[in-house]
Amino acid sequence: MNSILILGANGMLGHDLVETFSGDYEVTAWDIDDCDLTNKELVVQKITELQPDAIVNAAAYTAVDQAEEDEATAQKVNGEAVGNVAAAAKELDIPVVHVSTDYVFEGTNEQGYNEEDPTGPQNAYGRTKLAGEEALMNGHNKGYVVRTAWLYGHHGGNFVETMMKLAAEKDELKVVNDQHGSPTFTKDLAKQIRVLLEGIEAGEYEPGIFHATNSDATTWHDFAAEIFRLTNAEIDLSPCTTEEFPRPAKRPEWSVLNNNKLPSMRSWKEALAEYIETRQDTK
Ligand SMILES: NC(=O)c1ccc[n+]([C@@H]2O[C@H](COP(=O)([O-])OP(=O)(O)OC[C@H]3O[C@@H](n4cnc5c(N)ncnc54)[C@H](OP(=O)(O)O)[C@@H]3O)[C@@H](O)[C@H]2O)c1
Repeated sequence: MNSILILGANGMLGHDLVETFSGDYEVTAWDIDDCDLTNKELVVQKITELQPDAIVNAAAYTAVDQAEEDEATAQKVNGEAVGNVAAAAKELDIPVVHVSTDYVFEGTNEQGYNEEDPTGPQNAYGRTKLAGEEALMNGHNKGYVVRTAWLYGHHGGNFVETMMKLAAEKDELKVVNDQHGSPTFTKDLAKQIRVLLEGIEAGEYEPGIFHATNSDATTWHDFAAEIFRLTNAEIDLSPCTTEEFPRPAKRPEWSVLNNNKLPSMRSWKEALAEYIETRQDTK
C-alpha cells in the first residue's frame, strides 16, 4: 500500500490524518472543493482516475443540532455520499476506512457498546451516520467502519477550546454530568487508523466495524474539570443535568465504545495533557 486518498482532509480529523500518513505514503488530500462526495459521477470518475491503494473517509456533515432541521442534507453527505465512495472503491477493489460515531447507538448501555451490538440512533445525525455505515458495508466487500466519539484536535473548534474560552470570560460555569463517553484526540485516532490500514495490508483484519476512542470514560463535567486543572483556570465549575440544558438533538447518556478488536489506545487524560501542552505550537 503506497498511496492513500484522504477525504474530508480540511476537517479536524482530516488534518491529522494527512499529517500521520505524509512522508511514508503518497497522500492525496481532498475536501469538498476538490471533490463533492455527494456527486456520484464525479466521485467515481475522480477516484478511478487517481487509483489510490486505499481510501480514508473523514468527510461528514457534523453539525449535530443543525441536522435536526436539515436531515436531508445530512443524509446526502453522511449516508449517500458514503455509498458513492464505496462504489468507486469497489471498481478499484481497494479498502475504505470510513469514520462513524457513537451516536449510532441508543445510548442507554452503562457497560458500553461492543462493535456488533444492535444500533438505535436517537437523533437525525446518528440516523444519517448509520445510513453511511450501511451504504459502505452493503456496497463494498472491503469496508472498514471506525466508530469514534467526543473528538478534539488542533485543527477545529472543539470542547476543549470552548472550555478554555469560557474560563477566560466567566467566573462560574455549569457543565452536564450525566452524559458518559471517552474524549478522543484526533491525532491518536489518526494513528489508530494507520494501525488499522497497516493491519489490513498484513491480513490481520477482516472488513467490519471497529471502535476507536482514547481509553477510560468520563462525563463532560469531569472532562471540563480536567481541562481546567491542566490549564490552572480560575473558574467555579459545577455539575448540572442534561434536562437543565436542552439541545435540539437528543444526546446519548451512555456512549462508551468498547474496543474489542484494535490495540488499546492511551487514556483520555494522557492524550488531553499532550493536546494542551502542544496547543500553543499550533495556534
Ligand atoms: N467531532 C466529533 O466529536 C465526532 C465524534 C464522533 C464521530 N465523528 C466523525 O468523525 C469524522 C471527522 O469529524 P470532524 O469533527 O473532523 O469533522 P469536520 O471537522 O466537520 O470535517 C469534515 C470535513 O468534511 C467536509 N465535507 C462536508 N461535506 C462534504 C462533501 N459533500 N464532500 C466532501 N467533503 C465534505 C467538510 O467541509 P466543510 O467544512 O466545508 O463542510 C469538512 O472539511 C466524521 O465522520 C464525524 O462524523 C466526529
